[in-house]
Amino acid sequence: MYTNVNNPIYRIPKFNILKDYYMELPFAESYKIKMVETIRKSTREERAKWIEEANYNLFNLKSEQVFIDLLTDSGTGAMSDKQWSAMMLGDESYAGASSYYKLKNAIKDILGFDYYLPTHQGRAAENVLFSVLVKEGDIVPGNSHFDTTKGHIEFRKAKALDVTIDEAFDTTVQHPFKGDLNIDKLEQACAEYKEKIPFILVTVTCNSSGGQPVSMANMRAVREVADKYNLPVVYDSARFAENAYFIKMREEGYADKTVKEIVREMYSFADAMTMSSKKDAIVNMGGFIGIKHEELWKKASVYNIMFEGFVTYGGMSGRDMNALAQGLDEGTEFDYLDTRIRQVAYLGQKLTEFGIPVQQPYGGHAIFVDAKKFLPNLPKEEYQAQTLAIELYKEAGIRGVEIGTLLADRDPDTRENRYPDLELLRLAIPRRVYTNNHMDVIAAALKNVWDRRNEITTGYKIVNEAPIMRHFTVELAPA
Ligand code: F0G
Repeated sequence: MYTNVNNPIYRIPKFNILKDYYMELPFAESYKIKMVETIRKSTREERAKWIEEANYNLFNLKSEQVFIDLLTDSGTGAMSDKQWSAMMLGDESYAGASSYYKLKNAIKDILGFDYYLPTHQGRAAENVLFSVLVKEGDIVPGNSHFDTTKGHIEFRKAKALDVTIDEAFDTTVQHPFKGDLNIDKLEQACAEYKEKIPFILVTVTCNSSGGQPVSMANMRAVREVADKYNLPVVYDSARFAENAYFIKMREEGYADKTVKEIVREMYSFADAMTMSSKKDAIVNMGGFIGIKHEELWKKASVYNIMFEGFVTYGGMSGRDMNALAQGLDEGTEFDYLDTRIRQVAYLGQKLTEFGIPVQQPYGGHAIFVDAKKFLPNLPKEEYQAQTLAIELYKEAGIRGVEIGTLLADRDPDTRENRYPDLELLRLAIPRRVYTNNHMDVIAAALKNVWDRRNEITTGYKIVNEAPIMRHFTVELAPA
């Protein structure tokens, strides 16, 4: 009597006692919301003005000029009540803080490393570790090195050699582990350059090829090659937990293992790891190096003290180490990961239904739109993925990021533009931040751009650029 049955929100789904005896429940997030932050919409005219003022570089926008921010999943996640409360117990002693030991225990329990060094973020971990390991003339084989990793290698006048499997570079190929290293290519590189190789790098998940996971079988095979040539293996670990989730869901023999068991097995094949904790450990700032051998830890400690801080805090406050220890535990829980990866897939599925070309299968932290296929009429010299990023921003205030020619930078020797195989617009999804309603808005906005893609015939040209890692500060103008 009190409900209006004609109002759809009161309508009860038909329930046939014979046929639908058991009604499958829909999926829902494994958390509820305790604190919110207001975000604001803007007009198309405002956005056109703001992006011009930003020299068509989305990094130059103010966050208040953005409605849905998919620039990165790094440091943009929402911490839990347990993480916030752990912060209150932070020990800010310069040396020997309990927070250092809390994090040490978490790294030992969850990842299996006896030694570690805290750093302020992932690239700082690279800087410290590579200061020990990489020298001029070296070659570091790996799966599509992330740009800061490549930057730290090239800064030392060494080379990053990409040995990712070919399947990764065709967005239409369905392959469960597009982050895998091509073992033949790796073996060949080791045979040819052995004396010049300081270590093999495995990036889990592989960000540059679309947040794609590396299989356990591949990690095992990499270890075998490393043992044959007596080389250490380093994992770039920003999204290691998402990688473990994919192994559980996709690799034979792992369905019944917990994510934490899988993580331990992954790291049984590594000698060291660099970590940007801003991703899978769901903190806003922080990183560390995990090391198995005391000798390497001692050498790296010297650089840690020089660049980051004393070995028991290295660029992190005690409260941040506490939140990170808690985040490592939460980030490797199945229910959390299931919520996260399903949300990314939800967006991917919507875009696929609209016919928009995206990297298949969907990655862990982001959907990668194939800009070459989206804007085939635009020459690559006019930065297809960047053009698409600008169009999406102008359409709905959504900020993605170019993973293409601007990011690929110039060849350090020839100074020519490097045109990567994939020209992508990355829509990175922050952890525990947006709802699927936001995903619907993103999908609709991109569909609107897709529908008028043939009208987008001019891209952008570079007006100003830095000599290294130019994409952060590059200034552009319409071509
Ligand atoms: N390795 C990978 C695979 C990364 O994705 C990143 C950062 C780093 C290392 C460096 O870590 O930012 O803490 O210094 N990726 C961010 C991104 C910036 O947007 O993908 P950091």
